[in-house]
Amino acid sequence: MSDSPVVRFEVEDGVGVITVDYPPVNALGPGVPEGIIAAVERGEADPAVRAMVLIGAGRSFIAGADIRRFGTPRPKPARRTYDVLDASAKPVVAAIHGYALGGGLENALACHYRVAVPSAKLGLPEVLIGILPGGGGTQRLPRLVGPKAAMEMIVSGRHAPAPEAKRLGILDHLVEEGEDLRGAAIAYAKRVADLRPLPRVRDRTERLAEAAADPGMFDAMRAAIARKARNQKAPYHCIACVEAAVTQPFEEGLRTERRLFEELENADEARALRYAFFAEREVAKIPGLPKDLPLPEIRSAAVVGAGTMGGGIAMSLADHGIPVKLLDASPEALAKGLGRIRDNYAVSVKRGSLAQADMDRRLPLIEPVETYEAIADCDVVIEAAFEQMPIKKEVFARLDAAMKPGALLLTNTSALDIDAIAGATKRPEMVAGAHFFAPANVMKLLEVVEGAKTAPATMAAAMKLGRAIGKISAYAGNSDGFVANRTRVPFNIEQGLMVEEGALPEQIDRVMVEFGYPMGPFAVNDMSGLDVSYQTRKRRAAADPNYRTLPITDRLVEMGRKGQKTGAGWYRYEKGDRTPHPDPEVHRIIKEVAAGMGIEQRGFTDEEILHRLLFSSVNEACKILEEGKALRASDIDVMWLNGFGFPRYRGGLMFWADGIGAREVYNRVSAWHQRYGARWAPSALLREVAESGGLLREAKSAKAR
Ligand code: 3HC
Repeated sequence: MSDSPVVRFEVEDGVGVITVDYPPVNALGPGVPEGIIAAVERGEADPAVRAMVLIGAGRSFIAGADIRRFGTPRPKPARRTYDVLDASAKPVVAAIHGYALGGGLENALACHYRVAVPSAKLGLPEVLIGILPGGGGTQRLPRLVGPKAAMEMIVSGRHAPAPEAKRLGILDHLVEEGEDLRGAAIAYAKRVADLRPLPRVRDRTERLAEAAADPGMFDAMRAAIARKARNQKAPYHCIACVEAAVTQPFEEGLRTERRLFEELENADEARALRYAFFAEREVAKIPGLPKDLPLPEIRSAAVVGAGTMGGGIAMSLADHGIPVKLLDASPEALAKGLGRIRDNYAVSVKRGSLAQADMDRRLPLIEPVETYEAIADCDVVIEAAFEQMPIKKEVFARLDAAMKPGALLLTNTSALDIDAIAGATKRPEMVAGAHFFAPANVMKLLEVVEGAKTAPATMAAAMKLGRAIGKISAYAGNSDGFVANRTRVPFNIEQGLMVEEGALPEQIDRVMVEFGYPMGPFAVNDMSGLDVSYQTRKRRAAADPNYRTLPITDRLVEMGRKGQKTGAGWYRYEKGDRTPHPDPEVHRIIKEVAAGMGIEQRGFTDEEILHRLLFSSVNEACKILEEGKALRASDIDVMWLNGFGFPRYRGGLMFWADGIGAREVYNRVSAWHQRYGARWAPSALLREVAESGGLLREAKSAKAR
């Protein structure tokens, strides 16, 4: 018996099975809620049905509301699935596999019982797209697990694994691993079919009493998230809703939830976060690659170079269960590298973010080796040797000689020419860039760089490997600095030049922290070391006579002020403390260098600082798209969100710029071009978008159109 194309209803052994079948993840798209309601009504009306099961077809239960419909006008439903399930006179059992997220979990909470397979994940991640659970989740979850645990789940948006959900009280029963979920849920439904009264989450109040014993829990949560949730509304509205669950009767709590949900749905924060969600899915797609391209399986990996980057990459692989051989010719470097990896894991265990058992599982996956022969059999090798072309070429020539046919040969260079590196091998089609961001085991972004001869399957396999180790892989063309760093360079330059013109590092840092960055750019420079970019600047200056050096930064490095590690950089640091203190000595150096260069110092408004930093990068991003080195403007946004700590609730560089308007950005860039010269030459694409009244975030290179 089939009711609707997206929801099936079948009766089996006295149990009505409602199957949601809306690929790929059973979101509550058009027809799904209506189908569920119709099926419940049918089950209630059919005397042969004693109980019902709600289950998802394919890989998941229900992943939540259809996010694509948010922000668009939609008719208010006459009845909501949550109310219909809740009010059913016959018990309904939610049978969960894959994901039960957002509206999916809320439907499960409106059922009378919940069973799941151990691998299932449950959560209310709405806050991550700038909204709150609007299907009663903020009222039902606290009744099941207590307000504190509910608030933690709702405000973090995290997915709880099924065994934890069982412990918390969300699930009534865990099905054995490997057992047929449908069959187990039907059996469960038969067992509970005649039990009355029906257990409804809305009627439970015992866990809510916990708030009376700890009335400060809501303010404590607000204080705990204050730093991270700066400039955002949704996390606070989530807390307010859980508070309402405790202070208001159920129906009134639902009304509070609805009112606050509606306040958030069309706000800038939610629009930006929805955009980021879809941009992060779009970035995985390289147009023109056949879907069924056969890709090599990656079961083993090697990393060349046991330095900080190599170690971080090895950890990323081991963290995802891929055995990795760490190759370094120097036994000392190898020992030091392994020690660093062990220390990193140990710190995570100490902080409580990693279980000792996981550390014990991951560490042995990293095997130190000293010869190329030892890695010859690996499916992929990632080179993370010193950032100098002769070294890279030598490594790749040796890899070419040693590695088995079909192995992927990836380089972690952050700027060097992939074609020159691939040219050291007789198999340039197997070579691509895999540019990780430091610390490689933490940062989510991976730029996958295509050389002139890289085979499509190599690109696809490298993108897939990135995803398999928890990264967000983004396509980049081969150009100096690739895409992410190249868009960031003008920002860094303007940052330095504004200081010459009279803005103080602490003012620029304050503006950017208020904008939403976790740290200001000068404090970040001090953390990573001012000497890191010093060499790159020298290299670029030698290659390009128009390259604008940064004499103040260079002076600080030459004075030994290399940042936190030397106790002084742009700021001064007390021993053993990372708090940056503004330093009159730096102010003096700034004045002195500026005077020496004949630059008159002046005051800056906060807006000018923000716009100068970010518009310079927007302009560069447009140039990169014009050159076809990036696929889509939204890919660049994904890079800024995951590589540079750009505030997610602002969508990304290009999304943010659209909020100001391409026309306004173009006018400003043109004015600065007049004033400051060639480095501000406006991109033709920026001008085109400004003149057409279009959106920067929708810009695409020819390759992606
Ligand atoms: N709505 C619309 N499309 C969705 C979606 C949703 N809720 N969830 C996933 N999709 C789409 C993706 O855009 C992607 O489409 P594409 O193939 O065209 O690019 C496709 O489904 C597959 O998604 P992923 O690539 O992300 O698949 P994964 O297997 O990696 O991840 C997932 C699956 C964990 C379910 C992940 O997709 C996800 O986190 N989805 C969002 C979950 C969510 O936020 N739910 C709450 C929604 S808001 C809500 O429910 C409001 C309610 O309270 C009223």
